[in-house]
Amino acid sequence: MSEIDPAAPLLLFDSGVGGLSVLAEVRQLLPAAPVIYAADNGGLPYGPKTEAEVAARVCGLLGRMAERFRPRLICIACNTASTIALGMVRDVLEIPIVGTVPAIKPAAEQTRSGTIGLLGTAATIRQPYVDRLEAEFAQGKRLLRAAAPELVAAAEAKLRGQPVDPAVYARAAASLRDQPGGEAIDTVVLACTHFPLLEPELADAFGPGVGFVHGAGGIARRIARLVDGQPLHRATPDAALFTRADAGLADLTGTLASYGLHRIEEL
Ligand code: DGL
Repeated sequence: MSEIDPAAPLLLFDSGVGGLSVLAEVRQLLPAAPVIYAADNGGLPYGPKTEAEVAARVCGLLGRMAERFRPRLICIACNTASTIALGMVRDVLEIPIVGTVPAIKPAAEQTRSGTIGLLGTAATIRQPYVDRLEAEFAQGKRLLRAAAPELVAAAEAKLRGQPVDPAVYARAAASLRDQPGGEAIDTVVLACTHFPLLEPELADAFGPGVGFVHGAGGIARRIARLVDGQPLHRATPDAALFTRADAGLADLTGTLASYGLHRIEEL
């Protein structure tokens, strides 16, 4: 096996800013790792798209980026893309691919009432992948699912410093609470990487007695294990790449810098 280039980046991929919730955890564990953060903002949002559309974008973009940037590892920091395309991407690329899938297992361990809520995108919540996680880890529990597409836009706005109508959070909470048995929810899986960026707002909307779980910490630990022992050297400032150069990207500069991403480029 060839030597790892110390400057070979970790490539984190999402449709938008959601993957930053994963990057924050990766930074904690691997501060010296060179990172490329890639956002398919030209395809955002993924949630309302068909499986075929998401798979085509994700496989095409990751294939292109793997050739161009030679990452040591790719993290699909997006539940929608992972639950649809993780297997396909692993089939075609020869580097480790770490996915982001709904944290149903820790939620099932944590719930005391036995009723778990799951907020994701419309595409994620209908995936057989989620059915399998439920069957494997949440047996004997009740898992209520709801799509919360407005939260994706809310996270994008919040990180650009734009105001968000708090009714968005109330509607997301109600979409679970108003389902039969929803009043017993004590644990909510944030099954979209955008949603942990809104945890304080969601905590207010759900009220006391509800805990939130997501996969970012576990994903970062998995990445750290996979690169354990490899040389890490940041040869150039870490970059954020976007598939569409829209005017709003300028509003993200400060946020991206706070995640250690000091260059913005178009893919
Ligand atoms: N951040 C993404 C996820 O984890 C998807 C958001 C979207 O593009 O709809 O599912």
